[in-house]
Amino acid sequence: MKVNPQQLAFLATFLKRRSGVVIDASKAYLVEARLLPVLRQRGLDDFEGLVERVRSARDPGLEQDVLNAMMTHETSFFRDRSPFETVKRLLPDLLKRRTVARHLVLWSAAASSGQEAYSLAILLNEHFREALVGWSVRILATDISEPVLARAREGLYSDFEVARGLPVELRDKYFVRLQGKWSIGHDCRKYVEFRRMNLLEAWQGVPPCDVVFLRNILIYFDIPTRAAILAKMRSTVRPDGALFLGGAETMLGVCDTYDRVEGVGCSAYRPRSGPAAKRP
Ligand SMILES: C[S@@+](CC[C@H](N)C(=O)[O-])C[C@H]1O[C@@H](n2cnc3c(N)ncnc32)[C@H](O)[C@@H]1O
Repeated sequence: MKVNPQQLAFLATFLKRRSGVVIDASKAYLVEARLLPVLRQRGLDDFEGLVERVRSARDPGLEQDVLNAMMTHETSFFRDRSPFETVKRLLPDLLKRRTVARHLVLWSAAASSGQEAYSLAILLNEHFREALVGWSVRILATDISEPVLARAREGLYSDFEVARGLPVELRDKYFVRLQGKWSIGHDCRKYVEFRRMNLLEAWQGVPPCDVVFLRNILIYFDIPTRAAILAKMRSTVRPDGALFLGGAETMLGVCDTYDRVEGVGCSAYRPRSGPAAKRP
C-alpha cells in the first residue's frame, strides 16, 4: 500500500507538531512500513482513510497509535559504553559534593524500553552501592511513547535483548529468569521511575538533575527544536552535573552555552556559568 506525497506531507507535519520528529519526502517507504499495521488493525483500506481520520481529530487513540508507530525505539543495555564509563568516573566527585544533601537524581530523557535507565541502576549497584547507603537516589526515565514505557515498567527482556550490551556476569547478578525471559531485579527497579513525558511540552516534575542522558533523540529533531531543548536543559542539569548526548549528536552549530567535559571516550556537557552565550 502506497502513501502519496500529499498524505506523506500531512503525516510528516502531524508527527513534527506532536513530537518534534522530522521525516522528509525520501522516507515514504518508512511511513508505509510503520503505518501499515495501524491501517490493518483499524480496518482502513488506504492512507487516505488514515489521513482523514487523523485530520478529523475525532480519534485520539489513532493519533497515539500513529505517533507510537512512527517512533524509532532502538536501544540496548550500556549502549555505546563510554557514557557509562564516564558517569562511573564523574560520580565519586559528584557524591562528595552531595554529601550533605545525600540526594542524587539521574534522568534518562528518551528512555524507550528502559535499558538505558536500568543500565544506570546496574552501574550504581555495581560501583556505588556502599557509598549510596542512606542516600535518596532517583533515576527518572521518560519517553513520549506509552507502549515502550509499559515494556520498561515490566522490565522483562528477551535473551537477544540482554545479550546486546550486557555482560553475562551482570545479567546473572541483576536479572532473574521469568517466563523464558530476563526480569530486572528489585535492586535496580527500586531506583527507577518511568513516566510519560513529551520533551516538547512542559517538563513537569523534573527536578534539578545531576546526570542527564539525552541520547539518540536530538538526531530526529530539526535544529531549532534541538536548540530549544538544549536551552531548556540548561536549567535542569545542575551546574556541576553532566549532560550526555548520543554518539552521533553534537552541540556544534546548535548551542554554545555548555562547556565540554572530557570523559572516557566521549564528552559530557555542563551548563556554562555566567551570561549565556548567543546561539550561532
Ligand atoms: C532511539 S530511542 C533512544 C533510546 C535511548 N535514549 C538510547 O539511546 O538507547 C528514541 C526515543 O525517543 C522517544 N521520543 C521521540 N520523540 C520524543 C519526544 N518529543 N519526547 C520524548 N521522547 C521522545 C521515542 O519514543 C524513542 O523511544
